[in-house]
Amino acid sequence: MKIVESIHEMRDIAERTRIDGKIIGFVPTMGCLHEGHLSLMRKAREEVDLLIISIFVNPAQFAQGEDYDRYPRDLDEDIRKASEIGADIIFYPGKEKIYPDNYHTVVIVEKITNKLCGVSRPSFFRGVATVVTKLFNIVRPHKAYFGEKDYQQLVVIRKMVKDLNMDIKIIGIPIIRESNGLAMSSRNLYLTDRERASALSLSRSLNRAKEMVDSGERAAERIISEMKSIIESGRFTEIDYIAVCDPEEFEDVDKIKERVLIALAVRIGKTRLIDNCIVEVK
Ligand code: PAJ
Repeated sequence: MKIVESIHEMRDIAERTRIDGKIIGFVPTMGCLHEGHLSLMRKAREEVDLLIISIFVNPAQFAQGEDYDRYPRDLDEDIRKASEIGADIIFYPGKEKIYPDNYHTVVIVEKITNKLCGVSRPSFFRGVATVVTKLFNIVRPHKAYFGEKDYQQLVVIRKMVKDLNMDIKIIGIPIIRESNGLAMSSRNLYLTDRERASALSLSRSLNRAKEMVDSGERAAERIISEMKSIIESGRFTEIDYIAVCDPEEFEDVDKIKERVLIALAVRIGKTRLIDNCIVEVK
């Protein structure tokens, strides 16, 4: 496995790989790799010739006062994990390479970025869309892998790729959870033991929502209210949003008639966690 820090070298490798007729798979990450990231890489490893992962904590997707400076970083461990999966390249560009001083361009996906996480993090998806576009232009993947853990992000990237005619297949990968149900996230490292116990209410509330729909409940309001009381029964919790919405445009749904996304963001102490599930009506 090779670690590439230079944009020029990365482009060169991508160009040669394409000329050889080989398939490039790409897993963009912000590092501090856990089983969630690794599941994307394992899937990609099965499907492509050259597997590139990127590790870049993207300042553009953190607002002032968010956790950019303290975001967990552990390159040595990341290298070990990625090489165990059999990744070929870790692309690890520095901040000043991606955003030089005179950098002025952004990518904005409209409408769907104003919902859910976009309400409390208004510049987040602009930062994500911009950096992912830049990474795509450097790595030039045929296929790129994103987790359903960040469901809105996955939909935003799919929309961007379609709208901007990028010739890249976007593959969504199911959420990986700890055995207690907590969705894996680099930010789980911030949680104290007591906060971690409280954080279990997120997946519990989603399971309860699924159960309610399975047993015939169709009113989003009643589902949300039940989820709210489960989450609020935990300590240190402050709900950012709970939504029952359509999984493409994220428009709220009152009566569940077809496939819906149930998504939430909750602050546990200072840590903001997200989770979701897709519910099908039988
Ligand atoms: P990061 O949070 O490091 O996540 C990288 C990828 O791993 C994302 O596609 C995310 O959805 C996926 N992932 C994280 N936790 C997961 C879990 N428990 N199960 C399945 N997949 C999971 O998302 C980002 O970085 C950034 O926004 C990025 C796309 C790299 C742009 O900066």
